[in-house]
Amino acid sequence: MRRAIIAGNWKMNKTPSEAKSLIDHIKPLVADANCEVVVCPPFVCLPAAKTVLENSNIKLGAQNMHWEESGAYTGEVSAPMLKEIGVEYVIIGHSERRQYFAETDDTVNKKVISAFSHELIPIVCVGETLEQREAGKTENVVKMQVEKGLSGLKVDEVRRLIVAYEPIWAIGTGRNATPSDANYVIKFIRDIITGLYGNVADEVRIQYGGSVNAQNAAEILAMPDIDGALVGGASLKAQDFATIVRSC
Ligand code: 13P
Repeated sequence: MRRAIIAGNWKMNKTPSEAKSLIDHIKPLVADANCEVVVCPPFVCLPAAKTVLENSNIKLGAQNMHWEESGAYTGEVSAPMLKEIGVEYVIIGHSERRQYFAETDDTVNKKVISAFSHELIPIVCVGETLEQREAGKTENVVKMQVEKGLSGLKVDEVRRLIVAYEPIWAIGTGRNATPSDANYVIKFIRDIITGLYGNVADEVRIQYGGSVNAQNAAEILAMPDIDGALVGGASLKAQDFATIVRSC
């Protein structure tokens, strides 16, 4: 039985003090959650966030990392740095990073391997553009992203893996994928992972992301193959995020 996981991707929002305040608001609202809850604030907020997350059921995630442990990579942050702060999850290959920061399936793969080797759990994002969807290419695009991004893993790592299916046209647009469309692609992703790694694919948690909000979460999360959500905008509002968590 896969345990649902709701993660808030705060993107480039909140200062450290604002992060503390938002988490303070979220904490009591999700204390009785029956799913896993993760918040992913910006790097500079992670130490402050960790202090307010102590003794709560909320876990800490980062939004990116470099695959090397250290070195001449100005502006980058590595897995050991995140680990020392108490980060447990790391979003890898978000479409905004692919689009604006030249992230490729190859760099995604290096990051995923590095994350696992430092005992961080990667949340690997895949998804098609509107143009690709309209051209009937969704499956091809997602298959390529999954096969390349997740190659060379050990079965024991696959077991802990989290994938987020985030169709790019649904991100920040208020236009979510229909629950059945999202479920269809998520099942397709699991079938690809089964092809790569066998039955351990049944243990991989696959989230949906893209305009998930307090109104549509219950319907999306009720789908049999959807194991949670990666939430952007709505994760910045304590009450909305808590409603999504409680929809599990
Ligand atoms: P929105 O929920 O704002 O559409 O963002 C989704 C997303 O990109 C989460 O990673």
